[in-house]
Amino acid sequence: MVRRSGPLSGSVNVPGAKNSVLKLMAATLLAEGEYVLTNVPAITDVQKMSETLNALGVTTDWLGPHELHLTNTGNITPEVPFEKFDKMRASLNVLGPLLTHYGSARINWPGGDDFGDRPINLHVEGLQRMGATVDEGLLDIYAHAEQLKGTTIELEIPSVGATENLVTAAVYAKGVTVIDNAAREPEVQDLCNMLVAMGADIEGIGTSRLVVHGVKKGSLRSTRHAVIVDRVQAATYMAAVAVAGGDIMVRGARTEHMEELLNCYARMGVAVTPQRDGVRVTSHERLRAIDFITEPYPGIATDYKPLLVAMLCISRGEGSVTETLFPGRFKYIEEFRRLGASIAIYGNKATVRGVYELIGSEVKVPDIRAGAALVVAGLVASGETTISDIFHIDRGYDDLVGRLSALGADVRRV
Ligand code: EPU
Repeated sequence: MVRRSGPLSGSVNVPGAKNSVLKLMAATLLAEGEYVLTNVPAITDVQKMSETLNALGVTTDWLGPHELHLTNTGNITPEVPFEKFDKMRASLNVLGPLLTHYGSARINWPGGDDFGDRPINLHVEGLQRMGATVDEGLLDIYAHAEQLKGTTIELEIPSVGATENLVTAAVYAKGVTVIDNAAREPEVQDLCNMLVAMGADIEGIGTSRLVVHGVKKGSLRSTRHAVIVDRVQAATYMAAVAVAGGDIMVRGARTEHMEELLNCYARMGVAVTPQRDGVRVTSHERLRAIDFITEPYPGIATDYKPLLVAMLCISRGEGSVTETLFPGRFKYIEEFRRLGASIAIYGNKATVRGVYELIGSEVKVPDIRAGAALVVAGLVASGETTISDIFHIDRGYDDLVGRLSALGADVRRV
């Protein structure tokens, strides 16, 4: 339940990134030993990935609220039991490590947010080019290759998941694997950096050409690694103060990972000042509408889009968002309309005419990021906004309600 709030004040610490930690956890399948991941967000997707890894033979236990200990004893069964594997896109990320290390992998079809069709052809075609046979069955995906071989793979789209799967597969491939048009997202870089700390040989981290020199199977070692700070959770607190007004410190936020987004915020009238340990964000006036396009990194991430739409809903003038990654990622617009937003959709473009005030209502969360954006919108809606299906939010947000409340927002779980 959210009530109109603001101005917000105080500071918030940004937790680690979901889209990094899940892949880092999957990478522990590559080498025996004990791992410690720090800055791990307390989210349900981490719990689900733990269960999947437990079923494969990696044990997990918490050393502290944000410190996860994982042990790969070497006794791995490269087959995911059916019931473990149905709710996350990131579950696909165990495919590369299992296949390259154990010679085969059986996984169930991945889940994840419903943005329409989410194909896996780039994962499959890349692994096939490396010499794997891949059977895409009705219920599961089975991949096999005694020894993967290095090759050059040019991705048609700089897919985050495919880049990650192929990089992890390439670490034990024979020879050199080149991935062209690779995804450059900070979370992909975080995975590559952890793999390098484990002994992998990867060049071009953060660029669109990754070159992986395969090392001897089983030669990687375990490591300790701090999960990268979540740029989308950081953006959420910034959007909250942008709409509700106020002056907050977003601690841990890495401005170099969010440059295009921060430009958007600035163009809309939000003052964003980088500080030594984060970003100060102040907003005192009605926001201005802008037009923006979602793109792969370093462009404006599709995951920020619902937050920007929430901001456009109450801005002066008319703005628009064009979605280039997931054309079906507009389901939540209907929920914003329930709050009185004026939004029209034309294909992959949404046009938003700003209103003075949203109206509290009952809305239902369709996916993680839209859920957080509905909470943000509730901060500037009259009366009460009741938000259901918040389990989506819990998949990716570490105590959103507690953190917003500490900034002075009137938000409660009921
Ligand atoms: N694509 C293909 N074939 C493939 C793979 C992707 O055509 O084999 C297309 C997709 O359909 C999409 C585009 O490529 O049009 C980009 O998809 P990508 O593979 O980059 O996305 P992903 O790995 O499935 C991750 C995040 C998403 C985030 C996207 C884009 C995880 C677990 N998920 O998904 O995060 O939106 O990258 O940045 O890392 C979220 O956290 O809420 C979320 C949805």
